[in-house]
Amino acid sequence: MNREAIAQHFDLTDRIILVTGGSRGLGFEMSRAFAEAGATVVISSRKQESCDRAAELIERETGRACLPIACHVGDWEACDALVEAVYEKYDRIDVLVNNAGMSPRYETLGSVTRELWDKVIAVNLAGPFRLSVLVGEQMAHGDGGSIINISSTAAVAPTAAEIPYGTAKAGINNLTAGLARTFAPAVRTNCIMPGPFLTDISDAWSEEVKSAIGAIVPMGRAGEPEEIIGAALYLASDASRYTNGAVIKVDGGMAYGN
Ligand SMILES: NC(=O)c1ccc[n+]([C@@H]2O[C@H](COP(=O)([O-])OP(=O)(O)OC[C@H]3O[C@@H](n4cnc5c(N)ncnc54)[C@H](OP(=O)(O)O)[C@@H]3O)[C@@H](O)[C@H]2O)c1
Repeated sequence: MNREAIAQHFDLTDRIILVTGGSRGLGFEMSRAFAEAGATVVISSRKQESCDRAAELIERETGRACLPIACHVGDWEACDALVEAVYEKYDRIDVLVNNAGMSPRYETLGSVTRELWDKVIAVNLAGPFRLSVLVGEQMAHGDGGSIINISSTAAVAPTAAEIPYGTAKAGINNLTAGLARTFAPAVRTNCIMPGPFLTDISDAWSEEVKSAIGAIVPMGRAGEPEEIIGAALYLASDASRYTNGAVIKVDGGMAYGN
């Protein structure tokens, strides 16, 4: 394969890509990279102004159209409306990135309320399920596509501070395996499993947490947000056309076990 063919493998020209949680952090970095690779990106998050800002910035930097649409992914009616709006505008979605996620703090496991539990499951697991089904079925009956779920190393090695979140993310890994079987061969469903990354959530990390990360990550540091891009471009593009049901760790080489 020559250089041109290799570049073509990663080319996303005119693909329609929907990224939840695309206004900040890893979602924003992936959205910008998809646009640089030629895609039209739909940026979604809860706040319309944040989506507008991110979309404007990406359009300015890349010259590619970027559509901002607010959606709380924990609300299935909002998920349905989001998907409908994208199909209405573009008539297809080639890549869905289920990236929006959150892990609220709690003092002790006993202080976790039913409300917190339900919210964490709704945003991190139930929303991605609904979006994947809505988009995956249309992809499967149309021109195919790629679904990329963003999990977390908490799915396989949760700390005491992230048990509801880790449970939801373990569900995301399982959902990936199930959908990979359900929607193939037209649709590939894969998962990126990030370790600690320096997005907004790291502002809350104490010096203690930061040095603990340095010690447990063989690379000796947390990831920079743009270090998620390589895996995202691979899974979104034809470069991964025989990759389905994969969970790709992007975690600096963390080891899991007891
Ligand atoms: N950073 C890490 O260390 C790390 C590690 C492992 C896994 N991850 C996973 O990677 C993904 C991205 O994390 P990040 O660190 O980039 O997060 P982040 O910087 O906190 O950004 C979260 C994004 O999701 C949006 N969002 C939050 N709640 C939402 C909801 N209910 N509905 C729709 N959008 C929502 C936010 O925008 P609005 O506020 O406008 O809604 C924002 O765009 C998440 O799934 C996270 O669990 C992150």
